[in-house]
Amino acid sequence: MTEQTLTASNEGAARKPQKAGLEGIVAATTAISNVDGQAGRLVYRGYDIHDLAHATTFEEIAYLLWFGYLPTQAELATLQASLLAQRQLPAQLLTILRDLPAGTAPMDALRTAVSAGGMYASVQGQPTIEQAIALTARFPLILATFHRLRQGLEVLEPRADLGYTANYLYLLTGREPGAEHVRGLDAYLVMLADHSMNASTFTARVVASTASDLASAVVAAICALKGPLHGGAADKAQEMLTAIGSAENAEPWIRATLTSGGRLMGFGHRAYKTTDPRAEELREMARHADPVGFTFARHVEELAVAILDEIKPGRRLYTNVDFYSAVLLSSGGIPVDLFTPTFAVARIAGWTAHILEQAANNRLIRPLAEYVGPNAQTFVPMEQRQERQ
Ligand code: ACO
Repeated sequence: MTEQTLTASNEGAARKPQKAGLEGIVAATTAISNVDGQAGRLVYRGYDIHDLAHATTFEEIAYLLWFGYLPTQAELATLQASLLAQRQLPAQLLTILRDLPAGTAPMDALRTAVSAGGMYASVQGQPTIEQAIALTARFPLILATFHRLRQGLEVLEPRADLGYTANYLYLLTGREPGAEHVRGLDAYLVMLADHSMNASTFTARVVASTASDLASAVVAAICALKGPLHGGAADKAQEMLTAIGSAENAEPWIRATLTSGGRLMGFGHRAYKTTDPRAEELREMARHADPVGFTFARHVEELAVAILDEIKPGRRLYTNVDFYSAVLLSSGGIPVDLFTPTFAVARIAGWTAHILEQAANNRLIRPLAEYVGPNAQTFVPMEQRQERQ
């Protein structure tokens, strides 16, 4: 076969529709979270993210997203007990994780495990909160198990005396994490738990709208999150900081990247036309967690925002959530290729809340495409078609 016969014709489809990327399209109604991109405001069920970031735990936020209100002590204890009861992986999953080829990326391992787990565990049929709890409880286990196996280390048993976040860190490292470390990661998980109609949540809702099962909708969401234009930017932002390497190299590196048509990872956002409020919180957390890493990142941020404004005037490109996440997660000893999976450990709460919301008031999501291909072609039988040159 020649190269030509393998190349699809994209001539017509390359023309952008009026609302390319569904920009500005309202695809659902939701009572879960809202982004005001002009004001730089994010709310979960009406509560400002700045108020929630340091005053709540991930479990409280999962409760808020799933049930619609902040839990009392007793309600939180019930949820914690339910999460604890689900802190186990089916034995077959361990075999699957052990048998993955060397070099498997953690997001691929997560996707495979959730997909396989959907067949072994009770996450099929009509989506329920119980299924959401089960999957949420298993995400940290899957990633920590995979991470230990790939290093040839013993897989640890989850500890019943540790909460969701502390348990994740313990299972990854084998050490009981310090309170400050847990608090930092907990605030990160709180801030990344949901974000309205982002690409992965939209994907989850599309799958849920076909009346498919919760595990399938979550697998699809993982696939969308891993792309570098979405959650995959967390790893890439760290790689960018590593590639820049020094304060002196920042300006030439940024200019060279932008003038060659590249993008700065951790900058720009479809919704925010001002600083992402989560980036503001993460910036302050990074300042305390890793003063040296912070100083360098802040220098890169200031230059990047100024040069983006110069080279891309009017686009209003600022730091997004992934930039300082990279600094914070690095300072906490999380390996770079676990940044995006750790994002998923937070976002599973939002995905499942949206899947439940979609299922509760469902209508198939089925948009249109503007057809730009040829019309009224005359059909030519195979024996009369000319070979392409
Ligand atoms: N670096 C350089 N230029 C950028 C960047 C960036 N990070 N982001 C946008 N631009 C430019 C584009 O080149 C484009 O310029 P043009 O008008 O000259 O063609 C213009 O800004 C608009 O870009 P779009 O891609 O149309 O903006 P969109 O709203 O679709 O993109 C996105 C949003 C994908 C996040 C984009 O800003 C980007 O690629 N950022 C880098 C990747 C990243 O950090 N992703 C994480 C986002 S947060 C999250 O998903 C958790």
